[in-house]
Amino acid sequence: MLKKLDKNFYLSPSLLSADFSCLKEQIRLVEESGCEWLHLDVMDGHFVPNITFGPIVIKSLRSSTNLIFDTHLMIENPDKYITDFVKAGSDIITVHQETCTHLHRTLCFIKDHNIKAGVALNPSTPINTIFHILDCIDLILIMTVNPGFGGQKFISSMLPKIKDIRQVLDRDYPNIILEVDGGINLNTLPILIKAGANAFVAGSAIFDNDIKETIKKFKEIIYKSSFQ
Ligand code: DX5
Ligand code: ZN
Repeated sequence: MLKKLDKNFYLSPSLLSADFSCLKEQIRLVEESGCEWLHLDVMDGHFVPNITFGPIVIKSLRSSTNLIFDTHLMIENPDKYITDFVKAGSDIITVHQETCTHLHRTLCFIKDHNIKAGVALNPSTPINTIFHILDCIDLILIMTVNPGFGGQKFISSMLPKIKDIRQVLDRDYPNIILEVDGGINLNTLPILIKAGANAFVAGSAIFDNDIKETIKKFKEIIYKSSFQ
């Protein structure tokens, strides 16, 4: 069972925007702020133009925190590395629909390791590409920027996409987590809550500011909305 914020809301600060010279310290601040998740952006320089870190770095951080490791794989051939990311301590592994020829098989493979399986959709990928396999999905990640970099501008045309998938989930799959990623800050958060997302990744909005103060503000907005 994943630990959660109020009323099934999750906040997942993205380590991509953290100060990499002191990751342990930055993670400690996130944990002390009352977050339960940490978003780990793995990029391979092929599927996306940027390169970040892999299982070795994740493993080295595992012993210093109890945060849920929400691992977002922006890599080609994810099947090849899933076991490594599980061994490194990932609690959720999200693969991109665009990188998986046999997406159903990949999701089953993740779940065989007794962790949660997520699917990410690029802005241009329609939601009907996953309609027939919702049974084996724990989390849907709607990209609200083109993946590859932190600090990009939120693409507002993703809002109808989020609303559409929320309708489907409410009707048939209420337990699937609907996560959004990219350009999320204190201004875009309320709109995304309203559209139906219930997990929020935020990198630059948190790590480019006072980490604890900003997380507190995020949580206040989430908390208030849970009573509306
Ligand atoms: C983008 C990554 C995001 C990124 C978000 O490819 O998947 O998780 O860290 O960064 P911000 O919140 O700065 O848009
Ligand atoms: Zn991400």
